[in-house]
Amino acid sequence: MQIKLSSPLDMHLHLRDADMLKTVAPLSSYGFAGAIIMPNLVPPVTTTEALLAYKDRILSSTCRDKFEPLMTLFFKNDYSYEFLKKAKKHIFALKLYPSGITTNSDGGVSSMDIDLLRDTFETMSELNIPLLVHGETNGFVMDREMEFGSVYEQFASNFPNLKIVMEHITTAHSASLLDKYENLYATITLHHLLITLDDVAGGMLSPHLFCKPIAKRPEDRDALLKLALSAHPKVMFGSDSAPHPVDKKESCGCAAGVFTAPIALQALAMLFEKHKSLDKLQAFISDNARKIYGYKPIEKEVILENIPFTVPKSYKDVVPMFSAEKLPWSIKSVL
Ligand code: DOR
Ligand code: ZN
Repeated sequence: MQIKLSSPLDMHLHLRDADMLKTVAPLSSYGFAGAIIMPNLVPPVTTTEALLAYKDRILSSTCRDKFEPLMTLFFKNDYSYEFLKKAKKHIFALKLYPSGITTNSDGGVSSMDIDLLRDTFETMSELNIPLLVHGETNGFVMDREMEFGSVYEQFASNFPNLKIVMEHITTAHSASLLDKYENLYATITLHHLLITLDDVAGGMLSPHLFCKPIAKRPEDRDALLKLALSAHPKVMFGSDSAPHPVDKKESCGCAAGVFTAPIALQALAMLFEKHKSLDKLQAFISDNARKIYGYKPIEKEVILENIPFTVPKSYKDVVPMFSAEKLPWSIKSVL
């Protein structure tokens, strides 16, 4: 059997820089037509010059493929109207991190007080620049996303013309917000559709499944599955593939992030097939994102076939999800 996917999109991707970029970028650009690139480099991407230079480095690492990097700026509250107006043609969205909440987010926002954020949010609304949010508080780790829910609600209700994407949602509560606010959307990762906290820490600790937000309860995963498998029109695939070198994962003080880029399409086919929902995969992997963002991707046709794919143990020094395991689907061709 074969599955044809037209212009798969990854609406949340970490590509890093330098050697790591050269290792991981081609693994995304092979099967995906485009991806939203996260700006949490060190230092974060906060200027048009840095963004364009980073985009060039991405394009040189992906030059063998048809692939469009959709660039984001690291959200700062002091971007002026003039700056954003000029930068707009180069940026796809702004990514807001609460300060210190995850990898390289120290320069993020320290208060979610909407009076402090108002000017920037109004500018973004007027210029039609989407706001992508890592929605966690610094509370108890299992409750962080749920606690952030009221912030999402305030953002969405006070700025109805601002397109807000709840990135990598992990809870049934976040899922429930989608139908409450017209301007709220979400990305869902592959790993949060597959695992719960049990897979991370229920037996032997699995550092390669440790990420932020941490995987939650079975009922949360079920709520995410329901959205993805029905291709709810307000959700999109965003892998949050976040590579770290093996010595930063298998170490005391494990870095957060699951590396899924090279196995995402194959594993999604496995998951959607298991749930008899293959007919919904195209919407989840591309069509919903096109509609939500009003974006027309580069044309690319990916054929998957049900011939087993043995996942490499590692890609240079990065260990992927399903390392050394067999997945039932492989990529047959990309045109
Ligand atoms: O697990 C994560 N890793 N979550 C994030 O939000 C950031 C990412 C990274 O950049 O490593
Ligand atoms: Zn991320």
